[in-house]
Amino acid sequence: MIQVAVLGYGTVGSGVVEVIETNKEDIDKKAGEKLNVKYILDLRDFPGDPYENKVVHDYNMIVNDPEVSVICETMGGIKPAYDFTKQALLAGKSVCTSNKELVANHGPELIRIAKENHCNYLFEASVGGGIPIIRPLNYSLTAEKIDAITGILNGTTNYILTKMDENGADFADVLKEAQDNGYAERNPEADVEGYDACRKIAILSSLMKGEHVHYEDIYTEGITKISQADFAYAKKLNHSIKLLALSKDTDDGFFAMVAPFMIPKEHPLYSVKDVFNAVYVHGNMLGDSMYYGRGAGKLPTASAVVSDVVDCARHPGKTIMCFWDVERVTLADISAMHRRFFVRVSADRKDKALSLFENISQVDAGFADEFAFTTDVMTEKEFDEKISALGGSINRIRLES
Ligand code: HSE
Repeated sequence: MIQVAVLGYGTVGSGVVEVIETNKEDIDKKAGEKLNVKYILDLRDFPGDPYENKVVHDYNMIVNDPEVSVICETMGGIKPAYDFTKQALLAGKSVCTSNKELVANHGPELIRIAKENHCNYLFEASVGGGIPIIRPLNYSLTAEKIDAITGILNGTTNYILTKMDENGADFADVLKEAQDNGYAERNPEADVEGYDACRKIAILSSLMKGEHVHYEDIYTEGITKISQADFAYAKKLNHSIKLLALSKDTDDGFFAMVAPFMIPKEHPLYSVKDVFNAVYVHGNMLGDSMYYGRGAGKLPTASAVVSDVVDCARHPGKTIMCFWDVERVTLADISAMHRRFFVRVSADRKDKALSLFENISQVDAGFADEFAFTTDVMTEKEFDEKISALGGSINRIRLES
């Protein structure tokens, strides 16, 4: 019998208990042993909950119980999750987590501690909710040199952008819906400003590199400046607007960024809608592969946590290999990246825009007081210089081809 403890009985934690109960027979068969939730740690009591008798308030009961071999950390945040995780690993108990913040900050250290103590620190649920992406990067694509990852990694913002695009919905109303559905972070700024996607691409980039890509080094823009007018222009171009998180390993360096992009109908990420996430991976032998599914929400995320518990059950006393060294990757400056841009400026800048930019294509979405256009391919640096010389900027969105 594998005795499991769940830390945090919120959206994901209660999902973990539900997944283990609902799919008991299948999970036990696949794990090779029965799983039992022995403890649920939370500050609150849950009177009337079917598992109320498992709820404890003192972490020492869990970490000092020799029967507990796997801990699901679904608390989120750094404190006290970091201390609890470290204590568990030092006691030889594996930890399975959905806590992207902790993984992005302390992943390599916790992986090392797990290895030294013959247990595991697994984090399939930390990126892409229920989508298997950590396991493919760690165990499946091991013959590849992965040179690019492009992802829609935040369910809340994808939900908001989809509703704005398809229903002309208001930003604040849709955000409220995402919160009610349990997709959004406690502080939704983390979603809408791109911080959550940034942590997730930092985790994927670290696995891609085998070294630590620190999220604080990643250029990040959110979706708060995107308006209905931008979608009107995007439609004219047969594009949609998505918050992309990407990293590229090139001869000019390792680039990573998070920002809203206009993407064409033909792009594989175009049809990733609502709370769905997708990760588009390019390897030098395989070429493109894509991983798609529900990127947020109680049961999809909990399913990924439980899949890690099953992995722990299958590898008793063994550490599953994960290449993620503490050495910090020096990221290349995004100003050297090349791409096309979509630009909106006030109508009086038209002549100046035509003289500053070569080969621009005007886009008309019926806004008389604006001049909007797409540029040729240029570096971010070149674009920034021209746009500040132009002035009158209303918005600009990068184009992904
Ligand atoms: N707030 C996150 C999202 C939850 O919307 O994707 C899943 O990590």
